[in-house]
Amino acid sequence: TRGSMLPIKNIQGDILVGMKKNKERFVFFHINDASRFKDVLKTYAPANITSVATLVSPAPLQPLAFVNVAFSRTGLSTLGVKDNLGDNAFNAGQFADAEGLGDDTGVWESAFKGTHIHGVFLIGSDQDEFLQTYTHDLNALFGSSLSVEYTLDAAARPGPEAGHEHFGFLDGISNPAVTGFDSPSPGQSLVPAGVILTGHTGDTTPRPRWAKDGSFMVFRKLKQLVPEFRKWTLDNAIQNKAGNLTVEEGAEYLGARMMGRWKSGAPIDIASEDDDPALGADPHRNNNFNYAHPGSSLASDQTHCPFSAHTRKLNPRADQAGTDTPNHAIRAGTPYGAELSDVEAASNTSQIDRGLAFVMYQSNIGNGFQFQQLAWANTENFPPFKNVTPGIEPIIGRGSPRVATGFDPHDQAKTYTMPDFVVSNGGEYFFVPSISAISDIIAA
Ligand code: HEM
Repeated sequence: TRGSMLPIKNIQGDILVGMKKNKERFVFFHINDASRFKDVLKTYAPANITSVATLVSPAPLQPLAFVNVAFSRTGLSTLGVKDNLGDNAFNAGQFADAEGLGDDTGVWESAFKGTHIHGVFLIGSDQDEFLQTYTHDLNALFGSSLSVEYTLDAAARPGPEAGHEHFGFLDGISNPAVTGFDSPSPGQSLVPAGVILTGHTGDTTPRPRWAKDGSFMVFRKLKQLVPEFRKWTLDNAIQNKAGNLTVEEGAEYLGARMMGRWKSGAPIDIASEDDDPALGADPHRNNNFNYAHPGSSLASDQTHCPFSAHTRKLNPRADQAGTDTPNHAIRAGTPYGAELSDVEAASNTSQIDRGLAFVMYQSNIGNGFQFQQLAWANTENFPPFKNVTPGIEPIIGRGSPRVATGFDPHDQAKTYTMPDFVVSNGGEYFFVPSISAISDIIAA
């Protein structure tokens, strides 16, 4: 159930509910003429920027396409908005963070190198036609006051893969519920609004008053090496208790133990031996687990879920006993790139650029995205106090070499050295202002 204790007409929609559209276009821009840009934004924003209230309204009231807008530090400064928003990562920009994140900037999209990107429009729609119209309108209205530096088209995968990321796993299942907006479903964490929204209870950073009802958005273009991931799981296929899995099934089982969920979304902490698609699809059950099991020890039991699994590293639940509330964030990414080609499948080698247009919202990038990536995914001894060193998180963890344990339920200390399955092509840190702040401050 969704309430409206929060000023949802003033909050940009993607932050709390995601665009929930089949297609999403990211238009990254540089501002050439600040005063002309502001003049256009003044009328464009009230007519087009989609709020949470609009996104949760009944279908007939929905626009044909949704638009959100976010600005980088250099973008705000270019527009004459010099106030310090109090976020170090945002202030420095993502390029300055590349080395710390373990990125190879040699494979970053050139548009993201440096601090040249001033902002991004997010356009979401179920139909290409409206994406085109909205993009066209944007270009016509803003004209040469901006230059489009980079465009990324993301889209739900076709047919039954809709909602699944490119490795094949159902995504978008577990996000924190936000106090005053939604009530948690079983097992879902509940965070104070200020963990996601700036200027709300739980956000302790001093900020200018106009920054209320905003959020920081982390954007990352994360390339996924899909045939390489498939090949690696086949080469390292594991066995279940009964010892009756084919190599193909053992690869699926390994993948599920690396991700923490089966491709159907069923959590392996509950469905630890076999996939359970009905569980994966049931929102009242598919998040209702916390890695603790009566009669077995949190410090040593990996029969249900490896310590290093993606979902466990990035939301440790009982492993952290509720002390990690500020480290939650809302994910709203969408896959980009075409489906696997026959040539790629046959050669086990990626040729097409595909991956995740990763989007994460939080009131504090250091507590949210950076903490999850650095203190959790990349840290070998996280979760702490285990009988076996978990190693890095296998999907997105950075390390050299990339080593993790826990995948083989029969030999939980066995170490796996993994190639990269995800490669960062860079991104930027943005602030997503409230709708009133766009008119009253940014376009003023
Ligand atoms: C959950 C895939 C990158 C943080 C998930 C899930 C999948 C997935 C399939 C399970 C679905 C769900 O629980 O909603 C991926 C892929 C990535 C990626 C393919 C890269 C291409 C990241 C990054 C972070 C992250 C970079 C943060 C630094 C999370 C979190 C959860 C999650 C917090 C929810 C865990 C939970 O609450 O149980 N991801 N992810 N992911 N991911 Fe990722």
